[in-house]
Amino acid sequence: MKILVTGGLGFIGSHTVVELQNEGFEVVIIDNLSNSTENVLNGIIAITGRQPIFEKLDLREKASVQDFFKKYSDVSGVIHFAASKAVGESVENPLLYYENNLNPLIYILQELQQKDKANFIFSSSCTVYGQAEKMPITENAPIQPANSPYGNTKQIGEEIIEDVAKVSNITAVLLRYFNPIGAHPSAEIGELPNGVPQNLVPFITQTGIGLRKELSVFGADYPTSDGTCIRDYIHVVDLAKAHVVALKRLIESKNESKVETFNIGSGTGSTVLEVINSFEKVSGQKLPYKLVDRREGDVIEAFADTEKANAILGWKAESTLDEAVESAWKWEKKIRS
Ligand code: WQD
Repeated sequence: MKILVTGGLGFIGSHTVVELQNEGFEVVIIDNLSNSTENVLNGIIAITGRQPIFEKLDLREKASVQDFFKKYSDVSGVIHFAASKAVGESVENPLLYYENNLNPLIYILQELQQKDKANFIFSSSCTVYGQAEKMPITENAPIQPANSPYGNTKQIGEEIIEDVAKVSNITAVLLRYFNPIGAHPSAEIGELPNGVPQNLVPFITQTGIGLRKELSVFGADYPTSDGTCIRDYIHVVDLAKAHVVALKRLIESKNESKVETFNIGSGTGSTVLEVINSFEKVSGQKLPYKLVDRREGDVIEAFADTEKANAILGWKAESTLDEAVESAWKWEKKIRS
């Protein structure tokens, strides 16, 4: 059974391709290499021994998307990762985000609308909840007005899928990720941030390896146990596995509604200082850091209630924070060796 994975050479996409292949799926990757490299293919093959089909394609070109689905009319499901994801960049360049995160989604859905049955998994984000009132966050938590164009594209994307599913044979699962971190235990694939990492864990590992002088902790005066923000850091392999179970649910038509939504996190909140402590524990080295002002737009606290994914998908994150941080560190050392 052939599955299209857009953005399949990216961080979460590549780990999901591995888990799909482990479950016997044939994978076709579309990637425009804007935030990944073709070498990631070798990493995937090194792990699974299987070569995914790779099509270098810019999904912003409608004709390219149409040609793809003519060539691969036997695609049974689509996992759509391809999107820009830097919150700060989206504020500076909103049209880049609206074009790149929405047009490809629309073009793909247009192609799927003609199919007799289409299984679609959308890469969404806990950012749609903004600063949720209640912790842990359930799927029923209100959707807050987005505080960035990036977050807005996730909200609009979800709404587009809901609307199209009502009038087509598309069945969809929206996976709202919390904070994906870490790397495949083999260290054959992992995160490859472009330039200065915006996210915490890659910045920590680059500081640990000496690429960065010190970590700036954005705010230590929050109303939390140690004053720093709380997030739900989930191992990227656990996140990848959630996509496979969600896809199987759609293919086996076990879904109870046209569109189902799941929060995908570890279910545990960790402060920034706790992540630093985790790194120091697993690496055996001190991490240079300084406490600085808060970062604009950061929420104080966000961690997932994963009860629904546990009960309905039969999925639960298995890795601990230390295991995820250790895998990120192992990957950092591998790519810098
Ligand atoms: C985590 C915590 C920072 C860097 C974003 C997107 C989300 C998803 C994941 C795409 C915060 C602190 C960070 C640093 C720091 N993106 N931090 N120093 O902001 O929770 O989520 O990335 O899917 O949609 O919103 O993740 O890793 O940037 O920050 O102190 O150098 O680490 O303030 O509290 P975030 P993050």
